Amino acid sequence: MKIALYPGTFDPITNGHLDVLERAMELFDKVIVTVARNSTKAPLFDEQERVELIREIIKRNRYKNVSVESFDGLLVHFARKKKAVALIRGLRAISDFEYEFQMALMNRTQANKIFTVFLMPHEKYTYLNSSIVRELARLGGDFKDFVPLNVYKRLKEKIGLT
Ligand code: COA
Repeated sequence: MKIALYPGTFDPITNGHLDVLERAMELFDKVIVTVARNSTKAPLFDEQERVELIREIIKRNRYKNVSVESFDGLLVHFARKKKAVALIRGLRAISDFEYEFQMALMNRTQANKIFTVFLMPHEKYTYLNSSIVRELARLGGDFKDFVPLNVYKRLKEKIGLT
């Protein structure tokens, strides 16, 4: 049973993240989407909301062998606890590389049997990230094509409230 974690802040999860997740599902027996609880990013959606949105998507898309959990502390400690053999990261463009390279090598110093696996999303998602989606929402742009429907609705509500 090969288990992989797909970690991130997911504030909120986008169609680009789902593209990476679906690719990971082809490679591993089980994928745990792992939401970073104590992100340094001061997320718009709190931990519970981010997890709930992802849980709804897993159910709606009928993803098999995918679950979602939040974590605190070191990612590799959580990976060991879950008996994961790999960490999935999306690589969209060269600009991602330096940060990802540093993180993968640092994680390897802590757990050299846990492999970081980089997957490239479809090229239509290479320019997408969560901040740009939040900005579009805040400034009244059209962001429907970039996120799942539940995220679209929840983000509109959230922006309307703030
Ligand atoms: N499609 C769309 N957007 C994507 C994407 C894809 N396929 N892949 C990444 N992104 C975006 C994210 O939305 C995010 O955008 P944002 O900055 O606008 O929010 C950005 O790329 C990268 O974020 P993400 O993939 O969520 O990772 P992160 O850098 O926020 O999270 C952790 C990194 C949480 C995995 C990392 O900090 C961690 O492991 N923390 C735990 C502590 C630890 O172990 N530290 C030691 C690390 S060596």
